[in-house]
Amino acid sequence: MAVKEKSVFFCKSCGNESPKWFGKCPACGEWNSCVEEKEERRQKTGDRRQKTEVFPVPVKEIVNAKEQRILLPYEELNRVLGGGLVLGSLVLVGGEPGIGKSTLLLQTALQLPNKKVLYISGEESQTQIKMRADRVGIHNDQCLVLTETDTKEILEHFKNVQPDIVIIDSIQTLTSPYVDATAGTVTQIRETAAEMNKIAKTYQVPVFLIGHITKDGSIAGPKILEHIVDTVLQFEGDRHYGFRILRTIKNRFGSASELGIFEMNSSGLREVTNPSEFLLSQRDEEVSGIAIAATLEGQRPMLIETQALVSTAAYGTPQRSGTGFDIRRMNMLLAVLEKRAGFRLNMKDVFLNIAGGIRSDDPAIDLSVVAAVLSSNADIPIDNRYAFAAEVGLSGEIRAVTRIDARIAEADKLGFEKIFISKYNAKGLDTQRYHIEVVPVATVYDLASELFG
Ligand code: TYD
Ligand code: MG
Repeated sequence: MAVKEKSVFFCKSCGNESPKWFGKCPACGEWNSCVEEKEERRQKTGDRRQKTEVFPVPVKEIVNAKEQRILLPYEELNRVLGGGLVLGSLVLVGGEPGIGKSTLLLQTALQLPNKKVLYISGEESQTQIKMRADRVGIHNDQCLVLTETDTKEILEHFKNVQPDIVIIDSIQTLTSPYVDATAGTVTQIRETAAEMNKIAKTYQVPVFLIGHITKDGSIAGPKILEHIVDTVLQFEGDRHYGFRILRTIKNRFGSASELGIFEMNSSGLREVTNPSEFLLSQRDEEVSGIAIAATLEGQRPMLIETQALVSTAAYGTPQRSGTGFDIRRMNMLLAVLEKRAGFRLNMKDVFLNIAGGIRSDDPAIDLSVVAAVLSSNADIPIDNRYAFAAEVGLSGEIRAVTRIDARIAEADKLGFEKIFISKYNAKGLDTQRYHIEVVPVATVYDLASELFG
């Protein structure tokens, strides 16, 4: 008698499992995210998962072990990993197709002469990988390429090669013989990722998983994987700019708000170790509507340019738009300027842009946004040697932000002459240490009179 195959339903956004079809995911609320998959038919797994003896132990008897890390050839990559690649960790590198994930990890593998790296690709042929290696112009004998997608085979090769690092390109191409589903389905992704995690943990070898994600998140994968892996890095960027941002989304071994910057050129990725110089647009004459924010991305201070354009609304309803900055926050700042400092902005179009395609949610950007808007509104340029770092409150007060010393030091290092900060941050600050002049301000009104008299 033939057994009817049972179906299970998954949300491709969050991985929620359901016995019934759904229009809206009961777990994450996403619409139209339901995918049907055949029930996985697991074989007897006894031979696959070996049992290890575990028993309860008192906390104080657990031996402290500081996690060991491999230092990778790129500082930008080490930083987002929390200071190097932790042994036994499973790291997901997600990003849209074509962004440069394969290039990043192949380059990294090729630049580790003292580590044996097993680069497993289900995406490309060996020739294609060789072509990419030729393009980035690095060669080394310790990087082995394997084109394989079956996890059982991969484990065999792994045991033979005994690599120090494994790279899987990509998790969507892997298939496990232990579940009956096609590659790239939620069932396969979960199973194969769990198997790779097992390898990483058992042999204490770090494993990179490359995962594709599209803008609308329509390919199952990275979202579901977030729970399984130790670290999630997102590789993003704008096609119009040559640079790519590697952002930490989750990290069991470090801060989750770090970012690293790379530039894609004709011979692969180059790390950008001095982002401030890179993010400040080059301009000779001074234009109105530009102010520079001393922000902090994770642990790293960075100077970025905020650009505003304020003009009389052509139609009845003024337009508001923002790139790289939360539009609701921008509307709030405009309302504050209107209400607390008497600027008439309600009939003006306001466009805001964070230069270089950067997106930031550091509240310290507020003050430079306000300064840029005021500058464009008055059509008076702000000296390009001024920087800003403070949050703006609802009553127009300028509020303190975290790690002001790091921000001031960065602006100082880059040769800025003045930095505007909250008067609350200025308290107890040793300004003698810097060349830069520190200007404490209390309200948006104060800021306007400091800047434009
Ligand atoms: P790739 O690493 O294949 O992206 P992903 O693995 O994320 O899909 O990068 C593909 C793009 O990068 C492709 O459009 C070509 C470009 N590229 C360069 O501009 N320079 C280079 O040296 C390399 C290797 C790729
Ligand atoms: Mg690729």
